[in-house]
Amino acid sequence: MKPCLIVYYSRSGVTARAAQGLARLCGADIEELRDVRPRDGAAGFLRSAWQGWRRQPAGIMAPQRHPADYPFIVLGTPVWAGQMSAPMRAYILQQREHFRRVALFCTMGGSGGQGVLMSMADLCDKLPVATLHLRQREVLADRHAAALAAFADELAVLRHDEEAAAPAHTPE
Ligand SMILES: Cc1cc2nc3c(=O)[nH]c(=O)nc-3n(C[C@H](O)[C@H](O)[C@H](O)COP(=O)(O)O)c2cc1C
Repeated sequence: MKPCLIVYYSRSGVTARAAQGLARLCGADIEELRDVRPRDGAAGFLRSAWQGWRRQPAGIMAPQRHPADYPFIVLGTPVWAGQMSAPMRAYILQQREHFRRVALFCTMGGSGGQGVLMSMADLCDKLPVATLHLRQREVLADRHAAALAAFADELAVLRHDEEAAAPAHTPE
């Protein structure tokens, strides 16, 4: 079991790329959220925009990993119509009572990231320990490495502090 779990949703691979890079940097476990109903093509795009705008959760497959097993959980989503993606909204609503400390990131075409991070924090009912928003073109051109490394460093420092504060194990 790793000390951190990254849970992400990605319709077209951008958020997946950032999540996988972060997992390598942090040595974290990773879980991809999967739609029950496919979102391909123009119809899938329109449904995604509609669900984002209406703040609707979407049906997702049962996750494989349990967030209560991890001291840290990192949630990553694309921005849809200025909102978090519908599968990520569903996951947070289903699992938030099991979250301990959360860090948040999103990817976007150009704008809306800050608002999405704030509404994810609200929905989790937690102050995030770290946040990051990335533009799609940065991720696709591999120009996000420095921002991702800084985000991973923030998490590493927090994990180190938490381990240092934990009571030492004394054998009986
Ligand atoms: C339905 C839909 C709505 C979107 N709305 C926004 C938006 O409001 N603002 C923005 O900057 N990008 C928007 N985008 C672009 C995505 O946030 C961006 O391409 C993201 O990196 C895609 O991540 P993914 O490949 O992991 O799905 C939207 C994309 C889709 C599919």
